[in-house]
Amino acid sequence: MSKVKKNKSVWSSRILNENSNNFKKFGSSIYIDRRLFKEDISASMVHIEMLCKQKIISLKVKNKIIWGLKKILNEIVKKKFNFDIKHEDIHMNIENRLFEIIGEDAGYLHTARSRNDQVITDFKLWIRKANKEIIKNLDTTIKIILSSSEKHIYTIMPGFTHLKNAQPISLAHYLLAYVEMFSRDKKRFLRNLSSLLENPLGVGALSGTSYNIDRNYTTKKLKFDSPTNNSIDTVSDRDFVVDFLYTASMCSMHISRIAEELIIWNSEGFNLISLNDKVVTGSSIMPQKRNPDSLELIRGKTGSIYGNLFSMLTVLKGLPLSYFKDLQDDKKFIFDAYDQLKNSIMVMNEVLKNILFNKKNMQILAEKGFITSTDFADYLVKVHNYPFRKAYQSTASLVNYCEKKNKKLSELTINEIRKIEPKLNDKVLKVFNLKNSIDSKKSYGGTSFGNIKKMINKYKKEIK
Ligand code: ARG
Repeated sequence: MSKVKKNKSVWSSRILNENSNNFKKFGSSIYIDRRLFKEDISASMVHIEMLCKQKIISLKVKNKIIWGLKKILNEIVKKKFNFDIKHEDIHMNIENRLFEIIGEDAGYLHTARSRNDQVITDFKLWIRKANKEIIKNLDTTIKIILSSSEKHIYTIMPGFTHLKNAQPISLAHYLLAYVEMFSRDKKRFLRNLSSLLENPLGVGALSGTSYNIDRNYTTKKLKFDSPTNNSIDTVSDRDFVVDFLYTASMCSMHISRIAEELIIWNSEGFNLISLNDKVVTGSSIMPQKRNPDSLELIRGKTGSIYGNLFSMLTVLKGLPLSYFKDLQDDKKFIFDAYDQLKNSIMVMNEVLKNILFNKKNMQILAEKGFITSTDFADYLVKVHNYPFRKAYQSTASLVNYCEKKNKKLSELTINEIRKIEPKLNDKVLKVFNLKNSIDSKKSYGGTSFGNIKKMINKYKKEIK
């Protein structure tokens, strides 16, 4: 029997000469996929336990391999492990080291297994962990927003459409819109778990295996829900990668929209917020500057997260069944998207904790742009039974009048209003009050103060 030569590649008895240096560098993924080491070792341990339980390998060999794998885990954690591009990826780096530590018996580990099922098992385990971590960070975001909302139930601001003043709202209601966005993100991450809970281990290279393996055992031990159904699909499927990248893209898009919003609010033109020193930077030439770089970076990174999603989709679009090496880059896309997203959420959390809302300017801005016009029209409908279109036209005339006279709606006298709507008495004046307007929006999901308080309580219960 020919011996596996120490430190040679696994296929050195078939491919006799070494790869060119350029190709070795190009083909190796070790500096990316070494992040899977923990998952790789745990999955290998469960695999070897299963092989022993099924009497495919002996107890002695199993114990030796487990001992060797533990030693390797320790070496990697302690940064004493020498990763080598010669051994291509994390799987073969670990296998090679196992040979160095326990000798020929290391060769039993790859019985009834291929790197094709090994890599996706590791990867699904890793993404499950990443999913949890992102959800944890989003929970923090939601908590920060909730505590800010509680403080700003009675802070009045203009709600915008087209970035033009539209109708008065409570700042808390605005902030709670972000909570909805992040709650949907959380749900999307959780939904992705269903495919991440299907166990790929045991499908082999592509067709399954003739050994009497127990896939239910590895499923249970690795906390999957069930084994995957089709070996060919299993080794070629990267839908779970796309799912994560899409979900990360959506979440990043939400953070980016908030970032953009806050950048606008922080501008001198709006001046609705100011940011604490912790999250702004200065200029190298303009001494007065306090730039919201933190938010701009968040907005910028969203592009590269989308890029990862599109890269993965593009890799997949030309691949027949089943495994191809093109797939190796999937890790790069996920790790990059995960890192960027996690950092963006963390920085957004910092920003949210370090915002001062400029209540006075919000109120001043809300008083511009005739934002209680709809309230006036609604009053005509409710009190005088106008068709809404007629009320709308009458309100438009009132706004035109105000514009001509350079007055706010709230500055009109009842006599001026009567020139347009003779039937009205001074009870109508209350509709121009911003607080009244806000509190009148009692429909479910609307901005009334009562609604907001109920919503805050509901979210608080959900997040516990
Ligand atoms: N590093 C490889 C990857 O991530 C592992 C699978 C290799 N399989 C193969 N048939 N060459 O895709």
